[in-house]
Amino acid sequence: MLVVALNGSPRRSGNTELLLDRALEGARSAGAETMRIDVAFLDIGGCRECDRCREEGRCAVDDGMSAVFEALERADALIVGTPIFFSGPTGQLKTAIDRCQSIWVNPPARKGRKAAIIAVGADPHATFRNAVSEIRSFLNTVGFASKEELLVPNVFCKGDILSKEDEMERAYSIGRSLAVP
Ligand SMILES: Cc1cc2nc3c(=O)[nH]c(=O)nc-3n(C[C@H](O)[C@H](O)[C@H](O)COP(=O)(O)O)c2cc1C
Repeated sequence: MLVVALNGSPRRSGNTELLLDRALEGARSAGAETMRIDVAFLDIGGCRECDRCREEGRCAVDDGMSAVFEALERADALIVGTPIFFSGPTGQLKTAIDRCQSIWVNPPARKGRKAAIIAVGADPHATFRNAVSEIRSFLNTVGFASKEELLVPNVFCKGDILSKEDEMERAYSIGRSLAVP
């Protein structure tokens, strides 16, 4: 059982990363292998809509996205985490998501694998619906279905999430539940 976390935050040791790490701890406590991929620190270019994936069955652009494609294929469960940037996911996460057009064109054999969405925002009334909608659409395309969503408003500075013990524990139990077949 491999549980993969895709981290959309460009901030090292930020709130998203802390929640994802706690979720992965939960997954490991149930015996899963885990992997976190920080898309913001990979060299990932945008989809060029060159349509070569239609002809060749895979994305023609050779860059940091290869690691993401491989992880998406191997994962038995997936957690997608992002801070809210201007009412949506980060640009870095969206760039990686767009590159999965090559998977939309060539749908995966494995569908309905378990997934979760984790998002944080600084605004006490943060708008999560755009990010959730985009990430759900991505999950569906790459062969997963969102089972759990942890959306935490009112976290701004690095590490703010650590004072929200209930949310940290919810992340742990989400990770654990994904790892149980
Ligand atoms: C470019 C940018 C745009 C942001 N836009 C929003 C927003 O629209 N709504 C919101 O609630 N927080 C917004 N934030 C705040 C972040 O979501 C918040 O600081 C979050 O805790 C960062 O998560 P991280 O530590 O995982 O990177 C924005 C932050 C940045 C840098």
